[in-house]
Amino acid sequence: MRIDILTILPGLLESPLDHSILKRAREKGLVEVNVYNIRDYSQNKHKQVDDYVFGGGAGMVMCIEPVDILISKLKSEREYDEIIYTTPDGERLTQKTANYLSTLKNLIILCGHYKGIDQRIRDHLITREISIGEYVLTGGELAAAIITDSVCRLMPGVISDETSALTDSFQDNLLAPPVYTRPANYKGWKVPEILLSGNTEEIEKWRMEQSMEKTKKLRPDLLDD
Ligand code: ADE
Repeated sequence: MRIDILTILPGLLESPLDHSILKRAREKGLVEVNVYNIRDYSQNKHKQVDDYVFGGGAGMVMCIEPVDILISKLKSEREYDEIIYTTPDGERLTQKTANYLSTLKNLIILCGHYKGIDQRIRDHLITREISIGEYVLTGGELAAAIITDSVCRLMPGVISDETSALTDSFQDNLLAPPVYTRPANYKGWKVPEILLSGNTEEIEKWRMEQSMEKTKKLRPDLLDD
């Protein structure tokens, strides 16, 4: 899978994409993630990428031209399954969306701009608008990093324990059960006895019960779907 991220602040994306699991996945060629600086495609001599709002108002709006030039260039090189725009007024990112996106081949993520982008970019170039939650960030870069992370970890081979992604919270509309590791007794805080029993069938049953209980208590809405 290939993810091309378009931004005016590439530095904001470097660190999240260059550590731990994502870094290894990229090095192993399991996913390809590229970051493009929209400013490099500005035709303006000052490399300007935003301008005043038509009709007046505070703040600057991202211009169409550099975004269109960059997206057109990328589209001439390969077909894209989705061109995503990160924005607080988009559809909320869920595990279901991440699962869907992980089945795609080529993806563009255009990072939102703090005041917004020219609506015509959204009308003519974008196929999907995603929000990572009901709060406003200074820009779409962190949202793009979160979408990329949630999608990349689902790609085969990215997480060493293949079954691990399947047992995540939300993957079957249930929150994940609690997990423990050594020592079995720390200052009298004990691991549930059943987990030390070696009885895999009973352990699976216990985990399912814990998942159900936790979901009922914390996210009963998940059980309605
Ligand atoms: N840009 C600013 N806030 C955002 C959010 N909550 N989700 C996605 N992109 C954003």
